[in-house]
Amino acid sequence: MDYRVTSTTVEQTRELGKQLSERLQGGDVVTLMGDLGAGKTAFAQGIGEGLGVTSSMTSPTFTLIHEYKVLIQGTKIRLIHMDLYRLRFPEEAEVIGIEDAFVEDAVCLIEWPEIAVDYLPDDRLDVELHGSGEMPREIIFHARDSSWEQRLNFLANNRRI
Ligand SMILES: Nc1ncnc2c1ncn2[C@@H]1O[C@H](COP(=O)(O)OP(=O)(O)OP(=O)(O)O)[C@@H](O)[C@H]1O
Ligand SMILES: [Mg+2]
Repeated sequence: MDYRVTSTTVEQTRELGKQLSERLQGGDVVTLMGDLGAGKTAFAQGIGEGLGVTSSMTSPTFTLIHEYKVLIQGTKIRLIHMDLYRLRFPEEAEVIGIEDAFVEDAVCLIEWPEIAVDYLPDDRLDVELHGSGEMPREIIFHARDSSWEQRLNFLANNRRI
C-alpha cells in the first residue's frame, strides 16, 4: 500500500519526517528519492529533530555519510544519513561500507539511493518526493514489507494509491 501526501511548505515536509521518526526502530532503512531540491534533506531533518538530534543536519553530499547518536525507546541507535549523489558506480557503495549501516543498532536514511539499489535490504521504506522550488511537494510512501505497512497507518487519512 502506498500513500501520497501533499506538502505545501518545508515545515510540513519536516513535520512528516518527525511523525515518521516516532515509528522508527533499530534496523530500519529509509530511502529518500527525488530531484535536486525536492526536500529529501528537509524530510531527514524532521526525522532527526524527532529523534532529538541537536546539531544541524546538512546534506552529506561531499562526506557521503553523517552519523548521529540518538535514543529510540531508551536504546542507543546510530542515525546514519547518507547521500549517494556523488557515487558513479554501484560497487562504490560497497567500498564506503553501506552494509555496515544495515544493522540492528542503526537507522539508515539514504538520499539518492538509486545507484546502490542492489545493496539495499528488501524490507525498507521508500519515500519519493516530487516537485521543486516553491511548488507543493507530492510525497509518496511505499512500504516494502508488512511491518512498514502497519507503521504507515498514521497516514491513513491521506490518499492511498
Ligand atoms: N513543501 C516543501 N517541502 C520541502 N522543501 C520545500 C518545500 N517548499 C519549498 N521547499 C524548499 O526546497 C528546498 C529543499 O531542499 P533540500 O536540501 O531538502 O532538498 P534535497 O532533496 O535534499 O536536495 P539535494 O538533492 O540537493 O540534496 C529547501 O530550500 C526548502 O526550503
Ligand atoms: Mg539533500
